[in-house]
Amino acid sequence: MPVTTIEWCTDHIRMIDQTRLPDDLVHLEIKDLEVLGEAITSLRVRGAPAIGIAGAFGILLGTRMFTGDDHARFFALLEKTAQYLNGTRPTAVNLSWATRRMLLAANRHRSEPVRKIQELLEEEALRIWEEDREICRRLGRHGAELLRDGATVLTHCNTGALATADYGTALGVVFSAHEQGKKVSVYADETRPLLQGARLNTWELMNEGIEVTLICDNTAAFVMQQKRIDCVILGADRIAANGDTANKIGTYSVAVIAEKHGVPFYVAAPFSTIDFSLSNGSQIPIEERAAEEVTEGFGRRTAAPGTKVYSPAFDVTPADLITAIITEEGVVQPPFDLNLKTARPASSE
Ligand code: MRU
Repeated sequence: MPVTTIEWCTDHIRMIDQTRLPDDLVHLEIKDLEVLGEAITSLRVRGAPAIGIAGAFGILLGTRMFTGDDHARFFALLEKTAQYLNGTRPTAVNLSWATRRMLLAANRHRSEPVRKIQELLEEEALRIWEEDREICRRLGRHGAELLRDGATVLTHCNTGALATADYGTALGVVFSAHEQGKKVSVYADETRPLLQGARLNTWELMNEGIEVTLICDNTAAFVMQQKRIDCVILGADRIAANGDTANKIGTYSVAVIAEKHGVPFYVAAPFSTIDFSLSNGSQIPIEERAAEEVTEGFGRRTAAPGTKVYSPAFDVTPADLITAIITEEGVVQPPFDLNLKTARPASSE
């Protein structure tokens, strides 16, 4: 079975330190909100749904030591904790979606004693975690219908168990097809500069006994030209109401190449990744990362000291390059502005 990426253990978070993979499978036991903040910004936990779960558990960390029954002070602390967490990574909307859901849960029970609200918050966070596990499996089953026996899929970044509670979105589609007995193989983009494809996707796929071939990002066009790829399936950090999709930097290039070669380009994401408040992708905030991740990633300098760097962590793929969006409610076809709204479950509003 895929690994458990992040979980709540009575009074703390237990999570895999993804920066240590694939060499070491090390778990962090996090009891402190600031330690969690560092873990999110430094990508010890990463991937949109996993960050959302970390946000929900972070609300518990930030409020669990509160004692007494002063509602005004408790709700002020709750808001402050949510704001702090939302600021740790700006692009993946699952983070603010989860903290907002926690605030709404608390507000629904505002008249209860603080101790009771704390208990209800813990229940809500566990529900978010449990729902993610179930949603990924549903999404995976819908997506698996698109894969023929013998299909070869190109992936970008990591979208597996490590990016969610424990199963994955785009890789969940591959896992699901594999569980159905289909032979599916994967070409994994290595995903510069932090190599989530090389370090994490290959590790997960090989653990599951699924054939995976690692390629440099700049090999994607050539493997499509060589007709080795049946389809691209990748994840999303935020999808605007019209289907424009922010995902790991390099996704847009893959989409352009896929269109040129007539290769279907699928985005796999839960409804918690769709931001209906944004009409199009130009409104999505794009995180920029430190220059050192490009010039001396993994401890080896690869550019002259002082080199100017531009390192957006994500790019936005226009909706017209996306063949379909695979969700837990089914495979949504264009036009996305209409069809995403129609497919949206009431529970995600
Ligand atoms: O910077 P990261 O590693 O958090 O970026 C992750 C991605 O871009 C994933 O593709 C996305 O979050 C979807 S994960 C199911």
